[in-house]
Amino acid sequence: MRTSTEWPQGLSVLLITGASKGLGLAMSRAWAGPGRTLAIAARDARRLGEVRDELASLGAQVLAVPGDVGERGFPEFLVEETRRRLGPVTHLVTCASSLGALPLGPLADVDDRGWDEVWRTNVLGVVRIWRGVLPAMEGELGGGRILHVSSDAAVEAYPHWGPYGATKAAVDHLARILAAELDLHGHPNVRVYAVDPGDMDTEMHRAAIPDADPGELLRPEHVAPVLRDVLLRRPALPSGRYRAAEIALRGGAR
Ligand SMILES: NC(=O)c1ccc[n+]([C@@H]2O[C@H](COP(=O)([O-])OP(=O)(O)OC[C@H]3O[C@@H](n4cnc5c(N)ncnc54)[C@H](OP(=O)(O)O)[C@@H]3O)[C@@H](O)[C@H]2O)c1
Repeated sequence: MRTSTEWPQGLSVLLITGASKGLGLAMSRAWAGPGRTLAIAARDARRLGEVRDELASLGAQVLAVPGDVGERGFPEFLVEETRRRLGPVTHLVTCASSLGALPLGPLADVDDRGWDEVWRTNVLGVVRIWRGVLPAMEGELGGGRILHVSSDAAVEAYPHWGPYGATKAAVDHLARILAAELDLHGHPNVRVYAVDPGDMDTEMHRAAIPDADPGELLRPEHVAPVLRDVLLRRPALPSGRYRAAEIALRGGAR
């Protein structure tokens, strides 16, 4: 194992999926500003274009790449297009996610098509992006930050949350394995985080639990700065799984 030195984080290029709504949008807004560079992805091209224009008006250099992370070939295209237009990805946030068929129902009622869609989006759609960004992080960049947006459903056995919970748990575990591999192969400056943001008032939450009281939910714009701090914090947090609420209590980026 190589001893960790602080990664200098020179020119930063953030790639964020699920950037057009909810937490991904709030995170993109929290990152954007003069001198900041980011690539944003989501399926609805028109909405993503509006977000690009808004972020650009904040002074950021923004590339919008519309597409479905669960579609074969798109994750690779997304990473390559970002590299070609902005430079290699230094910071990755995977926020795009699928709940599966709605309303959520018993595990035995989920058909193969439902499983396939959730697995492709929530697992393969993440791992394929990792595969794209890792060579530069391990090589020319000498470091990087990978943050997967997880969920309490990865840990708790909530009835009717089977495919979603299982895929979130799968990526949490894959993130642990990736971190161990990076350590083994001498890349201590590439850090891998799975962060449970907490329950937020977003379209996804409304789709899953329509009768939830918004007043009892977090606002994505309050969670986003915590994620940004995880990416920028010095000294860097060790790779691992975190709850956003716990990180917020430990203080912000230095
Ligand atoms: N809200 C909560 O309470 C909560 C709690 C725990 C964890 N989370 C996690 O937080 C993350 C963000 O959730 P959110 O509540 O902010 O959701 P949201 O408001 O529904 O936003 C989801 C975003 O992902 C994009 N997206 C969805 N499927 C995609 C796909 N296949 N390919 C590309 N983009 C896709 C959506 O845009 P398009 O529809 O245009 O593609 C949108 O930009 C998710 O990973 C979720 O699992 C949320």
